[in-house]
Amino acid sequence: MSAKPIKSVLFVCLGNICRSPLAEGVFRAVLAERGKHGISVDSAGTGGWHAGEPPDRRSIAVAAEHGVDISGQRARKIQTEDFSRFDLILGMDQSNMRELKALAPEAMRNRIHLYLEFATGAVGDVPDPYYDEAEAFASVYRMIREASEELATRLN
Ligand code: 4NP
Repeated sequence: MSAKPIKSVLFVCLGNICRSPLAEGVFRAVLAERGKHGISVDSAGTGGWHAGEPPDRRSIAVAAEHGVDISGQRARKIQTEDFSRFDLILGMDQSNMRELKALAPEAMRNRIHLYLEFATGAVGDVPDPYYDEAEAFASVYRMIREASEELATRLN
């Protein structure tokens, strides 16, 4: 039996202002670079404190340095419907994974995966850069860029 093709991907972090908006914007850019259409991409946070806000200015800046504009994205909190709307739900770290599994209807839990592990096969977190310096955002960008390339290849 072949698995159903993945047509929609939701990236999830805690606040939806630092990591998952970058993952969303970079993955969308990689898909566009490869001329790959028909996959819808979004991001959300397990927390809603920043709902309606643009991404953190440091995420906007590091994306812009690499030609990706994420300034129009807006934060939102994950909703129950997201677990049925999205074929693949990727958490940035183990804490996001615990939250996602607790929130998801049982039948949808197999859609949830750790982002780096699903994309690259290597278990690891994209660490929360919120309280760190700009270098942490550069490092998060590099991880996300690499993982996005591998994820786009995996979804071929
Ligand atoms: P993110 O980073 O989960 O990558 O968006 C954070 C953003 C905001 C907060 C924590 C993490 N916060 O506590 O407000």
